[in-house]
Amino acid sequence: MNQVKQYLSIFSPSSSQQRQDNFENYWDFTQQHSGDLLESEQDLTKKRAVLAHFKANPITLRQPFAQPEAFYRNYVELKDDVSTLDRKTLLLTCIYKFARHEWVGITGAWAATPDFANSKDVTDRISRYHLAEEFSHTRLFHEMFCTLGLDKTEWVPLGPIAQKVYEFFPKLPEDLMSPFAFVTELMGIMFYRYVDNILDEVFADEPEACARLRELLNEITIDELAHIGQRRNYIGDFGIKVSAWITPPLFKMFFHDIPETKLFFNIDNMIKEALVFDYKEIPTPLMEKTWVPSYCVVPA
Ligand SMILES: [Fe+2]
Ligand SMILES: [Fe+2]
Repeated sequence: MNQVKQYLSIFSPSSSQQRQDNFENYWDFTQQHSGDLLESEQDLTKKRAVLAHFKANPITLRQPFAQPEAFYRNYVELKDDVSTLDRKTLLLTCIYKFARHEWVGITGAWAATPDFANSKDVTDRISRYHLAEEFSHTRLFHEMFCTLGLDKTEWVPLGPIAQKVYEFFPKLPEDLMSPFAFVTELMGIMFYRYVDNILDEVFADEPEACARLRELLNEITIDELAHIGQRRNYIGDFGIKVSAWITPPLFKMFFHDIPETKLFFNIDNMIKEALVFDYKEIPTPLMEKTWVPSYCVVPA
């Protein structure tokens, strides 16, 4: 019988030899998991097939989405009084705003990292694959909006200052950048799990749409679970302490910019859970498809 794996904190210590071995192991995993890189399209063959499957099997809403104009009016910037908006609209504008930051971040990083042909080592190759996976997430998020009939959703750049910050960030030296990159991945996982927790309640009257949103979110979450381990793998003993120190302010600063989050989530609790994250709450079917650093798994 297969032994159920037990996991350790994502902040667990690691040696440099362990991290080197884990990069090699992750590189094998990511190619298996995502397929071949389609660099000019910022895509991967298996990711493309997954999206095509969803598009070929659309679900039918029980009722047309109630407030499409309200969604389009508020998705880039919250303009209406929130008491006039229903929870579906607010959750979707919240998800869009989170995904938009990701999209801007990866667009800046894609421009700043060597392409696959010019990748010098395994971490360069991993970075290129990682970013292509992130672009596939933007498409999966887009598919969430299409599922609700919100096909006119556009990906709008941030303001010039925020845009510059995201372009500057990937040019920082690796040691300086790694804790921030790791914590933003951790923030992604916490956010997606919190969204997953409320989907059934918010979309109770649309069970088919709810199930499809969860399928799309799971596709993203499986990758992001692998990303937190991968980004953690860049970090030594001091960097992992820095990562814990910057987790509370970074979460607070980021979510402050997305006013919808406080309508749904307790950010202080999210921070507490992030600081002890150990994969324990993640459903087994997701864990079976993702990747975890060896030093975060209890030896059998
Ligand atoms: Fe992401
Ligand atoms: Fe990620």
